[in-house]
Amino acid sequence: MGTRAPGRLQSRRPRVEVVVLPSAEDIAREAAGRIERRVRTNPEITLGLATGSTPEPLYEELGRRHRENGLSFAQARAFLLDEYVGLDPEHPEAYRNVILKEFVSLVDIPPSAVRSLDGNAPDLPGECVQFEKDIRAAGGVDVQILGIGSDGHIAFNEPTSALTSRTRVEVLAPQTREDNARFFSSLDEVPIHALTQGLGTIMEADEILLIATGSQKAAAVARFVEGPITAMCP
Ligand code: F6R
Repeated sequence: MGTRAPGRLQSRRPRVEVVVLPSAEDIAREAAGRIERRVRTNPEITLGLATGSTPEPLYEELGRRHRENGLSFAQARAFLLDEYVGLDPEHPEAYRNVILKEFVSLVDIPPSAVRSLDGNAPDLPGECVQFEKDIRAAGGVDVQILGIGSDGHIAFNEPTSALTSRTRVEVLAPQTREDNARFFSSLDEVPIHALTQGLGTIMEADEILLIATGSQKAAAVARFVEGPITAMCP
């Protein structure tokens, strides 16, 4: 939201628009329409991609618009929000694999244009620093897609994360591991650590589309829309 200033990484006063729609499909169409307008205006767009269940209908809708309306991501690039630490890179729940399956395979963005965080890097803090550099070198993220955790987390910035935080290693909250256990064969299989873009990193995106669906997200949404801005509800 808002016009890009020269140097879109500079901080601006954010303008927040809350759109309430009856179904996940309506939300997917609304979000896809906003992304489509940006892509058609700027085919070299830089997207920020979230994983999880919430954006799946959006990615399917973008895939449909690619197939049926010629919406092209061939010149786009993308940055992922986060990645588990220590998960086998071939694991279907590694976030790079999730995005390849749920978005990249549906459109024409080259997989090489999608920068994910390497949760098996020998130097994890170094990987986070390099990731930040790569976002800057790309000129920043134009449109960041976000979900929200039932505990209010954004990416894997769990409650108490600093609002100015940067990409780093984060310990997952017990609630988040329980929520995500549905993607694994057991809770024990859910990694304890993740790499995540920081809140400060995410807030530098030119536009953020945060999507929340389902009654299990109602409390978190109420806290972030109506409550004070605090590190307990990033
Ligand atoms: C995923 C991510 C997380 C999810 C959140 C909601 O990349 O950053 O913050 O957006 O955990 O997950 P779902 O959509 O599965 O409810």
